[in-house]
Amino acid sequence: MYLRLRRIRKYHFMQLMTTCLVLSVVMLYWEKLNSTVVTHVKSYSYRYFINSFIYINKSFTISPEEARSFSNYPFLLDHPDKCAGKDVLLLLLVKSSPDNVERRSAIRSTWGNETYIQNTLGVTVKVLFALGTTGEEATWTSRSGQVLQAQLVHEDQVHGDLIQQDFLDTFHNLTLKLIMQFHWMHNRCAHARFLMTADDDIFVHMPNLVAYLRDMSSGGVTQLWIGKVHRGAPPVRSKSSKYYMSYEMYPWMSYPDYTSGGGYVVSTDVADKIYHATLNLNASLYIDDVFMGICASIVGVTPKEHVFFSGEGKAPYHMCIYNQMMTSHGHVEDIHNMWKAATDPEIKEWTTGLFGKFYCQVVKIALLCKTYVTAYPCKAAFL
Ligand SMILES: *[C@@H]1O[C@H](CO)[C@@H](O)[C@H](O)[C@H]1NC(C)=O
Ligand SMILES: *[C@@H]1O[C@H](CO)[C@@H](O)[C@H](O)[C@H]1NC(C)=O
Ligand SMILES: *[C@@H]1O[C@H](CO)[C@@H](O)[C@H](O)[C@H]1NC(C)=O
Ligand SMILES: *[C@@H]1O[C@H](CO)[C@@H](O)[C@H](O)[C@H]1NC(C)=O
Repeated sequence: MYLRLRRIRKYHFMQLMTTCLVLSVVMLYWEKLNSTVVTHVKSYSYRYFINSFIYINKSFTISPEEARSFSNYPFLLDHPDKCAGKDVLLLLLVKSSPDNVERRSAIRSTWGNETYIQNTLGVTVKVLFALGTTGEEATWTSRSGQVLQAQLVHEDQVHGDLIQQDFLDTFHNLTLKLIMQFHWMHNRCAHARFLMTADDDIFVHMPNLVAYLRDMSSGGVTQLWIGKVHRGAPPVRSKSSKYYMSYEMYPWMSYPDYTSGGGYVVSTDVADKIYHATLNLNASLYIDDVFMGICASIVGVTPKEHVFFSGEGKAPYHMCIYNQMMTSHGHVEDIHNMWKAATDPEIKEWTTGLFGKFYCQVVKIALLCKTYVTAYPCKAAFL
């Protein structure tokens, strides 16, 4: 009897201890748990059950005079006639920064080579680099801001493809750069059939993209906004994150759907709507792709997923991937090799036919359906 009681006590004691342990672990990691699991559950629930962003419109709307302060920085470098008199399929604006001379040069000689695109693909694509300014102290190198600016002017004289507005080129000014791009298109290149905005460290498979856009264009597509879509993404509330978002700036638990800023495409009607949305909006929310989502939700445009647009991820190096890829993120040193490999005419021969198709099917499953995240989702293997 006594023994049994002791056993029961012991059992209860163990139970109590375990509960305490679990609770303290949960409390210890609550912040982490909260920032990952709970916030996602909340934001997904919001996204899928309520999904109304009317309040955003109210909260972000300001007067046109106030809104102008986000777009009226003078242009230091500009090319007003870049698109004039041409049937431009795609206006491709690359978000670059003054220091990234090498990236721009690599892009010009690979996927951003307008001459190649015109001669080989038979369409007009205009590629320009969107820049802000470098402050005197803001340079990481020893070169002063003035010297750097003189170099930019020279670079622009040689290539004629820089547009620069007089705001500091920083991460927290990316939304100003977004506005700059949509306003530039509206003022200088409104007749381009598509606008793409891209980072300067992505790879664009131009032949695939052009084929896709041609298709879309001949079908008379409107309301197009494609890229890697973030659905029901919760704002990051951890102050240590680069993407930290304060409750003052954005009090809600979910962002409207948006495409990853690495590279996405909109049709000309969408570009026009976004332009008009920016005329009344408070653009101090500095995460540019989220801000794009806000503009779009206000004008009733929703993004569509294209599985071969990568968000953060880098595409696997394989011809069966090159065959279908649109963008891949994180390419700087390998961009020349990748361009050569991805545009090799032999790829078509190897990947068509019964055997080629079967081979690529197996390869794509092996490359894309691993447990860890790659640039493209597993379902991309089955398209
Ligand atoms: C762009 O392509 C053309 C034609 O293919 C080529 O002659 C030219 O050298 C290329 N430009 C650069 C900067 O590589
Ligand atoms: C954005 O640019 C403006 C104008 O140059 C500058 O005053 C401001 O400090 C910049 N903001 C950030 C966060 O870098
Ligand atoms: C824009 O939003 C910021 C941050 O939420 C706020 O501090 C600022 O006052 C707003 N600007 C206007 C003109 O309402
Ligand atoms: C957003 O708000 C503005 C002014 O508050 C209003 O004129 C406009 O119609 C609203 N747009 C939508 C899509 O609700």
